[in-house]
Amino acid sequence: MAVTKEQVLTALAAVAAPNGSGLAEARVLSDIVVSDGKVFFSITVDAASVKAWEPVRKRAEDAVKAVPGVVSALVALTAERAGGGAPAPQAAQRPAAPHAHAAHPADKVQPGIPGVDAVIAVASGKGGVGKSTTAVNLALGLRDLGLKVGILDADIYGPSLPKLLAIREKPQTIGGNRLKPIERYGLTVMSIGFLIDEDTPMIWRGPMVMSAITQMLREVEWGKLDIMVVDMPPGTGDAQLTMAQQVPLKGAVIVSTPQDLALIDARRGVAMFKRVNVPVLGVVENMSYFLCPECGTRSDIFGHGGARHEAERQGVPFLGEVPLHMTIREKSDAGLPVVATEPDGPHAKIYRDIAAKVLAEIRGGPSAGRAAPKIVIEA
Ligand SMILES: Nc1ncnc2c1ncn2[C@@H]1O[C@H](COP(=O)(O)OP(=O)(O)OP(=O)(O)O)[C@@H](O)[C@H]1O
Ligand SMILES: [Mg+2]
Repeated sequence: MAVTKEQVLTALAAVAAPNGSGLAEARVLSDIVVSDGKVFFSITVDAASVKAWEPVRKRAEDAVKAVPGVVSALVALTAERAGGGAPAPQAAQRPAAPHAHAAHPADKVQPGIPGVDAVIAVASGKGGVGKSTTAVNLALGLRDLGLKVGILDADIYGPSLPKLLAIREKPQTIGGNRLKPIERYGLTVMSIGFLIDEDTPMIWRGPMVMSAITQMLREVEWGKLDIMVVDMPPGTGDAQLTMAQQVPLKGAVIVSTPQDLALIDARRGVAMFKRVNVPVLGVVENMSYFLCPECGTRSDIFGHGGARHEAERQGVPFLGEVPLHMTIREKSDAGLPVVATEPDGPHAKIYRDIAAKVLAEIRGGPSAGRAAPKIVIEA
């Protein structure tokens, strides 16, 4: 029989909050999502009392796992109201709007991820522009520069790293509650897609997105990394804001196709990172021009150059142009990213050049002395 929310709440009633009251009554629980025996929810607490709550979180997770029919439980602490105040009414019907408190992430304490020197996000306003393909090949390009690189798939709605890196194995757990990431092509890889079935329909709500990403950042043994590349879901929503709030992002790379409409979305992406004080490392124009695989003729079917102009307009660096090419698509979709499998080819070189520019930006390179970029918000 399918597990119900009520069964979960009953189990949680037996778990005590730090003040002794039952967890179910403590008005700290987010909505509880039960999907195929997998249970997800978060506990919202005051940032100052996180330490006292951690054992409670663990007990809650164990109590839920003990409910017959529960396959897994993912319980996360979120400290949304750092200033304290009355806890929100049980968020069950009304998940907290992340936008309300996203405006000043710099006010929050953003501990880094132990061992990870820099975290960068690869994002776009619009879906399907090639973020994941760019993220993987950029990570490999950074690897080729001699760095130890990790890649995190934060697209919990549509994880793509299992496919792009042809990873089918499940990560192992270490010591009961930490996960060991997968190693592929010299990259350290983690994706929510390793943990859920591809076919499981998932209804993720705002708080769930936050919990899942927080756990993938904090409860995975990333080891020592020079750079962690985060493949973001499309858009400018909860996941992006969570990242900006949960980790000190060193910067964001925005991917766009050259068309006008895509550029409007890219502009939104740039504006969003600026709003949360994350530097934009630059813009990549993907599917920039078409190279005919037969005759090598180049055609600018999407109106090449739009992203470069947009980057100039926004006062952010332009990182490079990646052509629309069958090889990139085929290799990518077969889990054989071009930078790893055709390192001497023309595409690998393009991605390595982009990686070098990104690294220069991270290290305060060519643009370090640049005047503060102009922010143009046209939503
Ligand atoms: N430069 C390119 N040339 C040819 N095909 C490409 C290129 N970049 C990406 N693709 C293909 O386009 C499709 C979408 O790419 P990808 O999954 O990387 O986009 P995305 O922005 O991450 O999408 P989503 O918004 O769904 O996460 C894939 O099939 C990929 O192989
Ligand atoms: Mg993607």
